[in-house]
Amino acid sequence: MRNIGADVTVVRGDVCHMDDVIQTVSACNKTGYAIGGVIQAAMRIDADLFHRMSSEAWHSVIQPKVTGSWNLHKALEVYDATLDFFLMTSSVSGSVGSAAESNYCAANAFLDGFARWRRAQNKTAVSVGLGMIEEVGFLHENPEIEAMQLRKGIQPLNESEFLQIIDLAIAESMSERNNATCYDLTKPHILTGMEPMGIREGFEGYSSGVGEFAATDPRMAIIAAAMTAHGATESAKPHAKDLEHLAANIPWLKNVNLHAMASLISKIDAPSLEIGALALIRERFALMLLTVPDEIDNHRLLIDFGVDSMLGAEFRTWLWNAFRVDISFLNILSSGQTLATLARKVAENLAVKG
Ligand SMILES: NC(=O)c1ccc[n+]([C@@H]2O[C@H](COP(=O)([O-])OP(=O)(O)OC[C@H]3O[C@@H](n4cnc5c(N)ncnc54)[C@H](OP(=O)(O)O)[C@@H]3O)[C@@H](O)[C@H]2O)c1
Repeated sequence: MRNIGADVTVVRGDVCHMDDVIQTVSACNKTGYAIGGVIQAAMRIDADLFHRMSSEAWHSVIQPKVTGSWNLHKALEVYDATLDFFLMTSSVSGSVGSAAESNYCAANAFLDGFARWRRAQNKTAVSVGLGMIEEVGFLHENPEIEAMQLRKGIQPLNESEFLQIIDLAIAESMSERNNATCYDLTKPHILTGMEPMGIREGFEGYSSGVGEFAATDPRMAIIAAAMTAHGATESAKPHAKDLEHLAANIPWLKNVNLHAMASLISKIDAPSLEIGALALIRERFALMLLTVPDEIDNHRLLIDFGVDSMLGAEFRTWLWNAFRVDISFLNILSSGQTLATLARKVAENLAVKG
């Protein structure tokens, strides 16, 4: 930054401590320049299932975003009339959720609401919901979380695209500051990584499950509609009547619920419900491990594949979405569990409950 002419002062501190934030604001004042804006990008990650997440883990992730943004808001209050931007880096996870990251999702959802709240008071603010940055940053250094986002159909941004989005967010904040008498409440939240065409490509790459949240979550109605307009999966989904008609000729498919029927329709050549379910489960499991189904041994213990709490939670959600069968997280991770035993459980459950 210095090489391109910037005057840089580094102040080390914790954004959750008001004293440190005030010290940073004083350091800015000492430079003799006016404070133009703030970029709040602090974050911590401490993932676990919500029901067993410690209070410490919850707060360590919440605080840098919630307390930190609040401290910046208070410390810069006297500059609000002249601030050009108050930019917070949020995440798409705050909008669509993320397995085993309830604390991180809540912290980012706060930023999105906080930006709106500041704007409602005629103060500049924007929360940029980032999908996933390639090449640099936390996700790049944590490929397992990056892989999870990819499986959800979220498209990565490279460094240059990321900088363009930050540029756009700042430019928009500045133009509003200069032109508007009152802020546009539709603009404080910019969501990235969820372009319909990219999600559609995600759907097309895999036979089941990718990005189903986008098609089924009512908050994603606009994206789902854009995908449907382009002839994507939603329009290709069979209707209940078509499903029942198809199932009438396949004895093992007849009595299962409609969700399971829609999922299993691609496996109608299977000789039984259990074998059809196993093929589908194996396909999904391979996708989660970013490999091909042929590489997966149906009788190998799931824990030996390195299934951790994040993968386990994601797998459980998928099993529910695909079959409406609830297999507990502990059950998935229990010793002795394989894809074959899991498929048997799913088939037994479907046979009993439909
Ligand atoms: N990278 C991505 O793909 C991605 C995707 C979605 C959203 N985001 C968002 O983008 C932002 C930056 O992400 P990143 O990938 O650059 O993460 P990162 O490499 O982990 O950087 C986070 C920074 O926050 C600092 N920090 C944490 N707690 C702090 C506190 N209490 N006070 C002051 N600083 C604190 C950390 O400092 P220390 O290292 O000194 O602890 C670290 O420098 C985050 O808000 C994140 O939610 C990133």
